[in-house]
Amino acid sequence: LIEAVGAREILDSRGNPTVEVEVLLDDGIVQRAAVPSGASTGAFEAYELRDGDKSRYNGKGVLKAVAAVVDELGPAIEGVEASEQRIIDEILIETDGTDNKSRAGANAILGVSLAVAKAAADSADLPLFRYLGGPNAHVLPVPLFNVINGGSHADNGIDCQEFFLAPIGAASFSEALRWGAETYHVLHSELKAAGYTTGLGDEGGFAPDLGSNREGLDFLVKAIEKAGFTVGTDIALGMDVAATEFYSEGKYHFEGKPWTAAELTDYYVDLVDNYPIVTIEDALAEDSWEDWKALTEKLGVKTQLVGDDLFVTNPERLKQGIDLGVANSLLVKVNQIGTLSETLDAVDMAHRAGYTSMFSHRSGETEDTTIADLVVATNAGQIKSGAPARSERVAKYNQLLRIEEELGDAGSFIGRAAFPRFKG
Ligand code: PGA
Ligand code: ZN
Repeated sequence: LIEAVGAREILDSRGNPTVEVEVLLDDGIVQRAAVPSGASTGAFEAYELRDGDKSRYNGKGVLKAVAAVVDELGPAIEGVEASEQRIIDEILIETDGTDNKSRAGANAILGVSLAVAKAAADSADLPLFRYLGGPNAHVLPVPLFNVINGGSHADNGIDCQEFFLAPIGAASFSEALRWGAETYHVLHSELKAAGYTTGLGDEGGFAPDLGSNREGLDFLVKAIEKAGFTVGTDIALGMDVAATEFYSEGKYHFEGKPWTAAELTDYYVDLVDNYPIVTIEDALAEDSWEDWKALTEKLGVKTQLVGDDLFVTNPERLKQGIDLGVANSLLVKVNQIGTLSETLDAVDMAHRAGYTSMFSHRSGETEDTTIADLVVATNAGQIKSGAPARSERVAKYNQLLRIEEELGDAGSFIGRAAFPRFKG
């Protein structure tokens, strides 16, 4: 039974406050969860409650969310069995009472939801992935390493927010991690040799002021080859364009000129024809359903099209996308929707519709590693947690190493099969 729930304000990887929740059970178990925070957030995400008091942390304090946990959410679930995750998430949603979790704050609610799951797992003496996924949780994900950062995650001129290395040809998760780290270091040398700065963006990737988005892909290709791997078969490429960030008044302001959705779609088709790109996220703006549909018809047979700001891990928006034939993959961010149960609902819905899913960190992260367990619990097969560097990014990859070890022969790394050929 849940005996007490506490919360505090801690800092995230960008130096902004975030919520940490602690749950105490009557058997003495204590577990905590910390909540991440995005920068290029989707308009339809659940509400992140911040104090707005300019005298503290420039208005970004989360004392109101902390108070919501201590005064309302915690007391509402005290005495409930911790393993009743769905009941508890329902109580949290009802206690908040709004559609977008704006009264208590999705950051407050998520912290409680995840801390409860961790405490229940601990109380059952099971690792979190096993507690949530049962005996069938066994797929170690392909890690997508964001090694070049642009957009709103870096102070450079690159429009595209993320450039991924996808080690789809590795034999195991740990090998994929090694390949990613080795290539990351070669990329560092290559950028330096070309005269670019090698400072980092928010997700641990380099943030050079490249002349074009294509140049980013060219650097990845060069780094993969120089690191001794085969481009496309060992390590493929991916992008998160985060197109909503440069969309306004019907145009995409990309590489110094305005583009229509059709022009940008043709540009992606050309990229996919010329580079081994296995995934493109948020290629178009978050509310452009018809343009997304056209994009999916053109490119969905060739590559994975991931909806992040488009779907915001929200079963209702995902259903709309599935019904329309929009995208073929769901990005999964726990704080976009705000409870564990709703997150798992979105993943289930995606998988039933033949969509893939990719678990994701946020650009503002903490040492919390819950998403590493969730991706294995759901057998989703893909995770992005930034570069293979910086502790808040690597914490998730390191947790996956532990899970890989724990699973032993029962674990499987499915590599390229995590990116099925869509409708092709
Ligand atoms: P965010 O970016 O965490 O800043 O929203 C991550 C993403 O767009 O995938
Ligand atoms: Zn994204």
